[in-house]
Amino acid sequence: MHPEFHKRVIFTEEDISRRVRELGAEITAGCGHGSGPLAVVSILKGGFIFLADLIRAIDLDLTVDFMAISSYRESSLHSSGVRIVKDLSDSIFDRDVLVVEDIVDTGLTLSYILRNLQERGPRDLRVCTLLDRTGSRIAPVRVDYHGFEVGEEFLVGYGLDYMQKWRNLRFICALAEKGQG
Ligand code: IMP
Ligand code: MG
Repeated sequence: MHPEFHKRVIFTEEDISRRVRELGAEITAGCGHGSGPLAVVSILKGGFIFLADLIRAIDLDLTVDFMAISSYRESSLHSSGVRIVKDLSDSIFDRDVLVVEDIVDTGLTLSYILRNLQERGPRDLRVCTLLDRTGSRIAPVRVDYHGFEVGEEFLVGYGLDYMQKWRNLRFICALAEKGQG
């Protein structure tokens, strides 16, 4: 850990793996009732570790595809610019789609992604996020499955980064500058 920061563990490796197994069971029971395999769509980069564990907890035929977006916040908090930097490889037309995210915060990123994916004519479109910061929502989005509700603190680990670092931590922790919180 960087000396300027200290960390407080919020979810241990065991907390996460237990919750991921539960989510996998819920998704297995509730998703993918269409004819083809479930199309799991992961949003890079933050979601990749959660995705790897989640799909192994889902007992359904499924495919995996990736999408990457870049976002910048404009001067007004209420507008955001979101751009697709890597699109899906395959069509999701008439597919049962499950979007997998690391964290939904303002909801601006996800609402853009959902509008974009909806235009491609999926049969069903659902969302699973590991972390849900419901108190920070600007754009209303429907989250079908979430692992944990979280507060305001900035979190890293298990895929989540601060300036591209700490994605490889096996647990999730809050990051605070030395001398604060
Ligand atoms: P939203 O558009 O505000 O919902 O932004 C969601 C994205 O912001 C997530 O996919 C993360 O990449 C990033 N993000 C939001 N909160 C955190 C956090 O606490 N730690 C790391 N990344 C975060
Ligand atoms: Mg992300």
